[in-house]
Amino acid sequence: MWQLATALSMLGARLRESWDAHDAHTVELILDYFEQFTGRFHHPKEDDQLFARLRERSEEAGEILAKLRGDHEASPQKLALIRALIKAEPEHGCGQALAEAIERFRAHLDAHMKLEEEVTFALARKIFTSADWVEIDAAFEAHVDPLSHSGPAGKMTLLQQRITPLLPASDGRGAEKDFGSVVAISAAPRAGRDLLQIRDLRTRYGQIQVLHGVSITVGEGELVALIGANGAGKTTLLRCISGVRPASAGAIHFGKEAITSVRSAARVRWGICHSPEGRQVFGPMSIEDNLVMGAYTRPGKEIASGLSEVYELFPILREKRALPAGTLSGGQQQMLALGRALMGKPKLLLLDEPSMGLAPLIVEEIFRIIRTLKQSGMTILLVEQNARAALSIADYAYVLETGKVTLEGRGHELLANDDVRRAYLGM
Ligand SMILES: Nc1ncnc2c1ncn2[C@@H]1O[C@H](COP(=O)(O)OP(=O)(O)O)[C@@H](O)[C@H]1O
Ligand SMILES: [Mg+2]
Repeated sequence: MWQLATALSMLGARLRESWDAHDAHTVELILDYFEQFTGRFHHPKEDDQLFARLRERSEEAGEILAKLRGDHEASPQKLALIRALIKAEPEHGCGQALAEAIERFRAHLDAHMKLEEEVTFALARKIFTSADWVEIDAAFEAHVDPLSHSGPAGKMTLLQQRITPLLPASDGRGAEKDFGSVVAISAAPRAGRDLLQIRDLRTRYGQIQVLHGVSITVGEGELVALIGANGAGKTTLLRCISGVRPASAGAIHFGKEAITSVRSAARVRWGICHSPEGRQVFGPMSIEDNLVMGAYTRPGKEIASGLSEVYELFPILREKRALPAGTLSGGQQQMLALGRALMGKPKLLLLDEPSMGLAPLIVEEIFRIIRTLKQSGMTILLVEQNARAALSIADYAYVLETGKVTLEGRGHELLANDDVRRAYLGM
């Protein structure tokens, strides 16, 4: 148990330094273990044998055992907070809060183990006879803990075995593949100054390279669409732009600044605001608090005006502002995710699949709002699987296929392109 607690702390410290999906998965595995296995295996053997006997023999034991039980009852809430922060982290930079939540849980575990080992077991040693211990030991021996077949080494091996399947397989140590060259079907120059310029961007998850040298440009005031099949790397590209995933090579310029290795919170401060895939609103928090969170890089005095602008755009959010975000429908949660990104006063708005999973009428509503934002002069990079809707409103668009831009041109040009029509418009 203490080994897992130590591992958990170490992972928390690493996640505070920089976000890593594998570390986060490992934390979740350890939480799974605490939730599913300690309850089923570890506690019954103690409850049935050691604690039951102790309760029979000692008056002091009642209070100590009640305290231990209280600890168990407090755990789910602490674990749930860690899980919520892991879920939120990639888009919201909760690394610090996550590390603190893990530390608090670790302190809770330490105190619990101390009470068990130093107080409870000490008391047991005082009052149990050797005959008691023979029976208790037998019960403990017979018990099979999934992580402790053969002591500490066995624990680590098993934990590793549980983690290893989650690691992506090697694809030849990142050898570059030849994806051919980009076809640009537009000859006319694009209007406006470049706001975002990405050159030859590469990134990987573990051994798997996901972006193989992506180059795209978003001009000031443009709405640029990025389309491509599931798994092409669209979300990954947006994450590299907002800085929640590091680039392994290439350059990102925002205006005149090279931001390739600038931290994500600083990018938000500069006006790169991300409405993530899957919305990721905080269900238990009120709608208004969700929105306020989007303004965490803004001066406090701007919050009220930001809120009223968002409420202007989404009256339903004003109406329901005091309710938990989890009570909203999918479409309304998408509005909230959009509103939260707008609270950061974006110079560049990154939208990841805003229409995903929504009914046609709601999709229309979302696209109407995106058009309104565009008309107000906002620069938008829109990722969509709904290629037709995205290309219809895009000034310019890129097609991303397995981590590489294969085609680019104006929205209407791509809409008319045979390859695009076949591959993405189902025609
Ligand atoms: N956290 C992750 N760990 C490992 N591989 C990932 C992770 N996220 C995405 N991938 C892989 O990267 C590729 C691109 O994924 P993604 O950027 O989500 O694509 P899209 O948004 O275009 O559907 C996919 O092959 C996906 O399986
Ligand atoms: Mg995606």
